[in-house]
Amino acid sequence: MNNEITERLASSNLKLGIVAGGQLGKMLIQEASKWDIETYILDKDENCPAGKIASHYIQGSHLEFEDVYQFGKQVDLLTFEIESINVDALRKLKSEGIKILPDPEILALIQDKGLQKDFYTENDIPTAPFTKYEDENAIIDAIENGTLKYPFVQKLRKGGYDGRGVSVIKSKDDLAELLKGKSIIEEKVEIEKEISVIVARNSTGEIKSFPVVEMIFDPKANLVDRLVCPSSVSEEQAIKATEIADKIIESLQMVGLLAIEFFVDSNGAVIVNEMAPRTHNSGHHTIESIVTSQFEQHLRSVLNLPLGSTRLKLPAVMLNILGEPGHEGPTRYVGLEECMAIEGVKIHLYGKKVTRPYRKMGHVTILSSSLEGALAKADQVKNRLSVIT
Ligand SMILES: Nc1ncnc2c1ncn2[C@@H]1O[C@H](COP(=O)(O)OP(=O)(O)OP(=O)(O)O)[C@@H](O)[C@H]1O
Ligand SMILES: [Mg+2]
Repeated sequence: MNNEITERLASSNLKLGIVAGGQLGKMLIQEASKWDIETYILDKDENCPAGKIASHYIQGSHLEFEDVYQFGKQVDLLTFEIESINVDALRKLKSEGIKILPDPEILALIQDKGLQKDFYTENDIPTAPFTKYEDENAIIDAIENGTLKYPFVQKLRKGGYDGRGVSVIKSKDDLAELLKGKSIIEEKVEIEKEISVIVARNSTGEIKSFPVVEMIFDPKANLVDRLVCPSSVSEEQAIKATEIADKIIESLQMVGLLAIEFFVDSNGAVIVNEMAPRTHNSGHHTIESIVTSQFEQHLRSVLNLPLGSTRLKLPAVMLNILGEPGHEGPTRYVGLEECMAIEGVKIHLYGKKVTRPYRKMGHVTILSSSLEGALAKADQVKNRLSVIT
């Protein structure tokens, strides 16, 4: 079977379907084209970042049963770059013999933050204590009868991304911010650091994780603002996070790439926040700074090839290029050339035609022989580069 895969890799004879065509899909295709894989993209928007570089672009929604089902029937192997996919369509495709990796049941578990938290509890994975609620009225009741105390963090069970779907409630003055629908309430963690580990597993059972990265958030946008590798956590904490990542992917018996976000709390404990069964924003630096990028590793894992080395070549900082607040419309970049003139600065533009406040428009990876050097250059990039209309 695997010989067949490698043969087809080199003969344009492997049809890889990717559900959704955002920047993650684009970067996955860039890696897939190093070999000779024929790529198919499903996305609503014909101007999506991955659409133009895919071998085949198919218009359709990842949420619509029929769109996902018809798309999947055309390919040999189906994977995804987004979590909110119509899982029933994936289940039907699987029952008809289409290979889908990661497995649709893993996607179903992770799509629902309630089930995801149950998984952590059942498998002794450290995570913030939580309770499930049917709706916002049940939360108000719990506050009134004293079972729920401020502060707490509410998360919608389904559909949240980029911080939307998360509400921090510190006192009754914040109750207007309660989100509507099924949700979980978590204890508010005293966060010291936010880190992530990306881990891959192939169907032979080989597991490899990338070095820990540290995420630093923009408090206004609540998006990752810069990411550094190596991180500043202790060796013990890094080992702990990596062990937990390995344990999770092994317990799930998952094939593919899994990104796990952790908190390091004020006591130094490493606890899981959430996970995503796909390539991840916190792994963009791997394209230039690690021997094997997260995108290549994802392909290796789903094709059951040997996993690549995850050794760090040079310290790296990654900045998301976000749409400037107050600007919405056709995209214009300012400062690109000045930034490219700085040694070790690598710019990635996703090709989004329209900018919006805080929209992810691209990213920059900055490499240097020391992390301090990379951080200093990152400040220069941040001061020069902007996306306006
Ligand atoms: N229990 C918690 N205590 C304190 N802060 C939290 C807690 N849970 C989440 N946060 C903060 O909110 C941010 C977003 O939460 P989370 O990662 O669960 O949301 P998301 O929208 O699914 O994720 P993403 O932004 O990664 O797409 C976290 O990165 C963290 O800063
Ligand atoms: Mg998150």
